[in-house]
Amino acid sequence: MTVKTIGLIGAGHIGSQLARLSVRQGYDVVVSNSRGPETLKDLVRELGPHARAGTSQEAAEAGDIVVVTIPLKNIVDVPVAPLAGKIVIDTNNYYPQRDGHIAQLDNEETTTSELLQRHLPASKVVKAFNHIYAATLTTAGQPAGTPNRQALAIAGNDADAKRVVAQLIDQFGFDVVDVGPLSESWRIQRDTPGYGPRHTAEELRRDLAAAQRF
Ligand SMILES: NC(=O)c1ccc[n+]([C@@H]2O[C@H](COP(=O)([O-])OP(=O)(O)OC[C@H]3O[C@@H](n4cnc5c(N)ncnc54)[C@H](OP(=O)(O)O)[C@@H]3O)[C@@H](O)[C@H]2O)c1
Repeated sequence: MTVKTIGLIGAGHIGSQLARLSVRQGYDVVVSNSRGPETLKDLVRELGPHARAGTSQEAAEAGDIVVVTIPLKNIVDVPVAPLAGKIVIDTNNYYPQRDGHIAQLDNEETTTSELLQRHLPASKVVKAFNHIYAATLTTAGQPAGTPNRQALAIAGNDADAKRVVAQLIDQFGFDVVDVGPLSESWRIQRDTPGYGPRHTAEELRRDLAAAQRF
C-alpha cells in the first residue's frame, strides 16, 4: 500500500513526536486532539506545510494510517466508521491512576490493544511506540544497519499491517521486533522488563521472553 498521510488522534507527548517524525520523512499529517483544531495552531506551524489540524473524525478520514495516542480511558471516543479497513497504530498504555480501574486489564484477561481492536472491529490494530519515552522518539533513531540500533516492539493480528508499520518504524530510525498477535502484547505492557529502557533487538527479544503476567 502507498502511505501518503498519517492521521493522529491525540497530539500530546507521543502524538506530536510521531507527527514530527512523519513530516521529517515527507508524509502529510493531520493532527487532532479533544479540544479542537484551533488549539493545535502552534504545533501545525512548527510542523510546516505538510501538516494541518482537524477533528479526530477528520484525522481518521484523512489518514492512510491512523495513530491512536490518547489516554486509554478515552478510546471509546475514537471514531469507528472512518477507520474501517485501515491500519490503526495503538500507542496506549494502562495507568489506573489516570484511566480508572479497568477490570479486564487488572485481571489480565485482555490487553490494552485488544480493547482498542474490540472498539474498532473492522480496523487492523497494530501496537507500537508504547514502550519508548516520547522525548526519545525524535533523538534516538539511527539509520538501518547501525550496530546496536534501538529496537521497538510491534504486535498485531494482521501480517500485512504489521509489515507496513515495521517499514514506518524502520524509516523513523528503529529496528523492529514482532511480539506476535495482539493477545501477546501484554509482554510489552507497563511493568514488563522491555517497557522503558533502551534495547537492541536481541535485548528486546530476551526481555519479551522473560515477561511475566502478574
Ligand atoms: N508520554 C510517553 O512517553 C508515552 C510513551 C509511550 C506511550 N504513551 C501512551 O500513549 C498515549 C498518549 O500519551 P501522551 O503522553 O502523548 O499523552 P498526553 O501528552 O496526555 O496527550 C494526550 C493527547 O490525547 C488527546 N486526547 C485526549 N482525549 C481525547 C479524545 N477523547 N479524543 C481525541 N483526542 C484526545 C489530548 O488532547 P487534549 O489535550 O485536547 O485533551 C492530547 O492531545 C497514552 O495512552 C500513554 O500512556 C505515552
